[in-house]
Parts: sequence; structure tokens; C-alpha cells
Amino acid sequence: MVVWARAFQGNNINTSEVLSAEGVELFYGETPAVRHAELLLRRGEVAAITGQSGSGKSSLLYCLAGVLPVADGEVRFEGRVLGRMDDEDLCTLRRERFGFVFQYGELLPELTIEENAALPLRLLGQRKGPALAAAGEVLGRLGLGKLRRRRPSQLSGGQCQRVAVARALVHQPAVVFADEPTGSLDTANAAAVLKEFLTLARSMGTAVVLVTHDDQVAARADSLYTMRDGVLVPQAREAT
Ligand SMILES: Nc1ncnc2c1ncn2[C@@H]1O[C@H](COP(=O)(O)OP(=O)(O)OP(=O)(O)O)[C@@H](O)[C@H]1O
Ligand SMILES: [Mg+2]
Repeated sequence: MVVWARAFQGNNINTSEVLSAEGVELFYGETPAVRHAELLLRRGEVAAITGQSGSGKSSLLYCLAGVLPVADGEVRFEGRVLGRMDDEDLCTLRRERFGFVFQYGELLPELTIEENAALPLRLLGQRKGPALAAAGEVLGRLGLGKLRRRRPSQLSGGQCQRVAVARALVHQPAVVFADEPTGSLDTANAAAVLKEFLTLARSMGTAVVLVTHDDQVAARADSLYTMRDGVLVPQAREAT
């Protein structure tokens, strides 16, 4: 399988493999949800996955992120097979090296947005002051610096999704998994948030696996896949 990776503007990013799936299978009971998925993600690469509702996109993401154990095949992160790691190591890996953005942001309402964005650093044991400072810096890059003391209920939908993006990237993970990260926003707002998300991820050398229904969003990715009835089909792309 050939995955097309474009040259990253201005960034000295090597193209070494960070995440791969080989022959990955997932079943719910007897029903297959992911069938023999093959995927290769290089450092800093953005891979988009489109496909109809129920085709298995979220299920594949759970396999790639080590959230669900695969029935067959292997997911490797930096050469380590997730299925061979014990639960503690896998949790540590997810906490330290992965980031997640969800469809509705899923912020904690009782925390300020800087506290929300700082959560991954706090979970990694960083002290509150430096964690909030780092969160404030990432929020600032997403245009939210002045709002950092507000709570999520005082923000618009697009602003909340930006906070979710900040939280996913604050610890500079190797891979961010984003499942319809702007699915709750209108088209213009979704496009703006996606653009900022991908720009920030690229500047950090973070790879992104992005599930989206939006073809225009997918067009911003380096590699493109379509999920059909559990089968992941790579789409040919031409370099621009
Ligand atoms: N926990 C579960 N138990 C049983 N079946 C499930 C479970 N989760 C998902 N499924 C089924 O697996 C299939 C794939 O679901 P999945 O959520 O991966 O699809 P999706 O492509 O992400 O859909 P959407 O675009 O609507 O989010 C669907 O038929 C779904 O009903
Ligand atoms: Mg889904």
C-alpha cells in the first residue's frame, strides 16, 4: 500500500512511520466491524477517513488508539505492538503520546477552559502553574487567550471545539485521534476550526487520524481512506 505524504512547508519533519495497522479485525459479538484494515501513518501526517454512518470508522479509531483490543492483526506505535502491551503500559502510552478530539468537544463544565486544556499535562503529573501556562499558550495560538478564565458554558460551539483541540495537543502528542471533531458545527465554523487544528498539529509534528463526513475537510489531509462496510479502502491522491 502506498501512502502519499506531502512535503511539510517550513517544517523539518522526517517521514518515519509512527503508527501502523496490519490486517486489523474487530468484531462486536459475531458481527465484523473492521475487516483486515491496513494503514500507515508517518510522523506529522494527516490521514482522513470518510465513510457512511455505521461503516466502522469510530471502531477503527478505537483499535488504532488501543481503546479496543483487536481480534486479529496488529496495531504498532513506534514499533511497539499495542496488543502485546499490558493495560498499565497502554494507559500510559495513551496518556503521554496520544491526544483525542471528540465530536462535541466533551469539556468538563465545572473547569475553566485553561483548566480543561491543561488536563493532559496535569494527568502527566505537571504542576498546576506550568500546566496552565502551557495551556494558555496553546489557547492563545487558537485565538482564545483572552477567554481562558471562562467556563465552557460561556463559549460558542466553535470556541468549545477549539478548547478541545488545545486539550488534545497541549502535551504535544505523537498522534491525535479526531472523531468528527467539528461534527457539531456549521460548515464555515467547522472549516475554520479544522484549519486551525491541522495547522497547529503540523507545527508540532503531530500526526492526525481524522474521521470526517466532509469531503472538503478530507481534501486538506495528506492521505485519504474510505470505510465501506468495515473495509478500509485507501484513496489515490495526487500531489499538489
Ligand atoms: N459496542 C457495540 N456493540 C455492537 N455493535 C456496535 C458497537 N459499536 C458499534 N457497533 C456497530 O458497528 C458498526 C460500526 O459502528 P461505528 O460506530 O464504528 O460506525 P461509524 O462509521 O463510526 O458510524 P458514524 O459515522 O455514525 O459515527 C455499526 O453497525 C454499529 O451499529
Ligand atoms: Mg462514528
